[in-house]
Amino acid sequence: EKGGFPHYMLKEIYEQPWVLENTLGGRLLEEVGDVDLGLELDPLEVDRVHMVACGTAAYAGLYGKYLLEGLARIPVECDVASEYRYRDPVVDGKTLAVAISQSGETIDTLEGLREAKRKGARTLGVINAKGSSLTREVEAVLYIHAGPEIGVASTKAYMAMLAAMAMLAIRFGRARGTLGQEEARALIRELKKLPRLVEEVLEKRPLIAHIAEKYHQAQDFLFLGRHVQVPTAYEGALKLKEISYIHAEAYPAGEMKHGPIALIDERLPVVVLATQGPLYEKTLSNIQEVRARGGKVIAVATEGDEEIRKLAQDVVYVPQVHPLLSPMVSVVPLQLLAYEVAVLLGRDVDQPRNLAKSVTVE
Ligand code: M6R
Repeated sequence: EKGGFPHYMLKEIYEQPWVLENTLGGRLLEEVGDVDLGLELDPLEVDRVHMVACGTAAYAGLYGKYLLEGLARIPVECDVASEYRYRDPVVDGKTLAVAISQSGETIDTLEGLREAKRKGARTLGVINAKGSSLTREVEAVLYIHAGPEIGVASTKAYMAMLAAMAMLAIRFGRARGTLGQEEARALIRELKKLPRLVEEVLEKRPLIAHIAEKYHQAQDFLFLGRHVQVPTAYEGALKLKEISYIHAEAYPAGEMKHGPIALIDERLPVVVLATQGPLYEKTLSNIQEVRARGGKVIAVATEGDEEIRKLAQDVVYVPQVHPLLSPMVSVVPLQLLAYEVAVLLGRDVDQPRNLAKSVTVE
């Protein structure tokens, strides 16, 4: 049932091109420059968004914040559901609570959503599991159609959640009049390319296995990124922690100077998301700062970027894509890195210690 793969996680990583086809399928209206999410919910009835989710799903929510704020100019708050449910959030009838979940059974997410509802919020679920508890408690559901995910470490569901966030932001941007038709069309064209681009990234597995070989003995890893690549950095660190048990931290690259830079020495591998985008040069400076302190840089960079070779010890190239969509191609090498490191360390990749696939108790 693992389709010839040694682990479900690897199978699910390799399913991602197909998953993207499924998530995006039939929803992209390239001609009109819009997406059809089949939602009852009118974007004009809300004026702010609260993302409610845990773990990987919460990182997808953070990605959604960058997109919804950037393209739809709607304020978005992100919080892990375990905090949201108890912090007495400020909610009114124009707040849209977006609960994001693979399983649809995560107790904190359910309770966070219920809390928002009690306070009068409108609700939307971005969910994988059909008919799960969460689907029954939200006004509208945006299914991500990733198919069953067995590996405890979420991979393909994250990919599908990112695609769902991109579509949501396009829909809201079009409805609110903040996203022009041409810009929407350009994004949709790029979204359509993603399955093929992710396929290309999967071919990098031998290179990533080689990098894993070099660094799997490290005690700690640091992951850095800016803007939409901040959630990618968080997700890369979480994947590594979960299945290899290596301590990993992620930071927005610009925050490095405010503390984590003290950790850097010649034993610290630093994974830097350095794909093309408006903040690329800033990220390059961060790489220089890491190198100046002896840190080992593993860069995820855009195909054709020769400059970065001079700075980073290892470079994994990902295909060129719209900078707002770069997380979808960039997270794949991080998933593979976590996987290869865990395998080298002899870890139980699909059933990591202390973790459950769905966390139904607090
Ligand atoms: O089923 P959910 O998406 O609600 O699960 C949320 C988290 O428990 C989940 O993403 C967890 O962090 C994964 N183990 C990440 O790989």
